[in-house]
Amino acid sequence: MLALAWAGGPALAVEEVPFVTTPDHVTLAMLELAGVTAGDFVIDLGSGDGRIVITAAKVFGARGLGVEIVPELVERSRVAARRAGVADRVEFRVQDLYDTDLTAATVVTMYLLPEVNLQLRPRLLALRPGTRIVSHDWDMGNWRPDRTIVVDVPDKKVGREKSSRLHLWTVPGTVPAAVR
Ligand SMILES: C[S@@+](CC[C@H](N)C(=O)[O-])C[C@H]1O[C@@H](n2cnc3c(N)ncnc32)[C@H](O)[C@@H]1O
Repeated sequence: MLALAWAGGPALAVEEVPFVTTPDHVTLAMLELAGVTAGDFVIDLGSGDGRIVITAAKVFGARGLGVEIVPELVERSRVAARRAGVADRVEFRVQDLYDTDLTAATVVTMYLLPEVNLQLRPRLLALRPGTRIVSHDWDMGNWRPDRTIVVDVPDKKVGREKSSRLHLWTVPGTVPAAVR
């Protein structure tokens, strides 16, 4: 059923989350929503062609890690990082996002699927209080975002809406019982 959410999107599907890029202006909006600065370490889960981590480094001066299960996309990301002049501040690994240690992150970004977000939720809630999480389009059930913004995407290829929802959470010091 969830595959329908991506109907019409580009191929190269891996397991349940296919490769669909976040448009550049949405990438910027995600990083701005998270308030990324040069002091941040950004982890993008399912990093595709690397654009979120590369933009975090190039535009905001952050460091970062992208984990991606498709080796060809990781290679593409490394080339793009070198071209962007940020190869010394970012790393791309062929790695399953479910096996990734997230503890170094001050910011986690995701463009995945609702049920993947929910599977990740306990691990995200266990991160250092103050860690920011931004998800493109999908929320995390009853862990309500602190902020949601809508960005126009006139040429959006997935779903019916010509816009993207960006959700921001900040990991709380005490996790509310309802979302434990
Ligand atoms: C919707 S794309 C988002 C790409 C990039 N983050 C962006 O926003 O442009 C999701 C990516 O997750 C990758 N992916 C899917 N399952 C994964 C897994 N278990 N571990 C790591 N990457 C995965 C896919 O190959 C795909 O590139």
